[in-house]
Amino acid sequence: MVLILHNEIPALPLNNNNRIPQLGLGVFQVDNAQDTKDAVKWALAAGYRHIDTAAYYGNEQWVGEAIRESDVKREDIFVTSKLWNDERGYDETKAAFQRTLDKLGFDYLDMFLIHWPAPGFTESWRAMEDLYKAGKIKNIGVSNFNRSHIEKLMETATVKPVVDQIETHPYFQQKDLHAYLETQGILHEAWSPLGGGRNNALTDPVINELAAAHDVSAAQIILRWHVQREEIVIPKSTHEERIQQNRDIFAFGLDEDEMRAISALDAGKRVGPDPADDAWLKQSQSYDSRK
Ligand code: A2P
Repeated sequence: MVLILHNEIPALPLNNNNRIPQLGLGVFQVDNAQDTKDAVKWALAAGYRHIDTAAYYGNEQWVGEAIRESDVKREDIFVTSKLWNDERGYDETKAAFQRTLDKLGFDYLDMFLIHWPAPGFTESWRAMEDLYKAGKIKNIGVSNFNRSHIEKLMETATVKPVVDQIETHPYFQQKDLHAYLETQGILHEAWSPLGGGRNNALTDPVINELAAAHDVSAAQIILRWHVQREEIVIPKSTHEERIQQNRDIFAFGLDEDEMRAISALDAGKRVGPDPADDAWLKQSQSYDSRK
């Protein structure tokens, strides 16, 4: 059998029968208008139709502006934002969502996530369910939730999260949580898929050997590994050629041995905060997301 690969970005089905483009642009730590707008416009020109922002990133306004100034229609783009940890409670969550919409300049959002499992998330979820049922948010999900957080959420939830967006890269592969999410029909979305520039995944010898063998970059190998694990990936870059390169990961494939070689790199090493760290979660509730 000849496998014909094409370079289109797949749209993965969510558990509510909506779809999400498997690759998106992440804009974490892009903290000024010029860089944010350039990155979003370059991504849209390269064929991305999915942008991942958050209230906490402070750049929703520029994401919205870039989309309006582009040639791509709003309804053709899947935009995600996230509720910060200082916004808890039913009314507070609805008000925070409206601030996100106003900053983006949108009248609906494609996906809204609870950014971290900081205390009070079940009440926020109730508000998000109502916004979902009212059609203001097309999909609702969570981020940085461990299995125990999802189980707690589902004690009172009437709508299941469509995704869990969690730190995932070759040195922190989340194998157990990945398997659990699969059993729940919740898609695994990877943040810092390349290690966020905070580890050496991009210079890892195994990754670079595979890159040479496929005549692609180390970043493309890592992103390809994620998509073959059926994850959604949202690599961040503020460089046009990297944004283009990160999009070109659908015309080659890794075989089982190559996937296994990357699987063996798992070192259980995070680059970000641990969602099981209750002290950090509490402290994060004092970080201001309304800046
Ligand atoms: P930059 O924004 O300067 O391009 P992650 O998505 O895992 O958080 O990783 C983002 C980091 O990786 C950023 O430091 C980004 O830098 C860098 N990066 C993104 N794409 C590539 C690429 N194709 N090659 C090398 N570095 C990349």
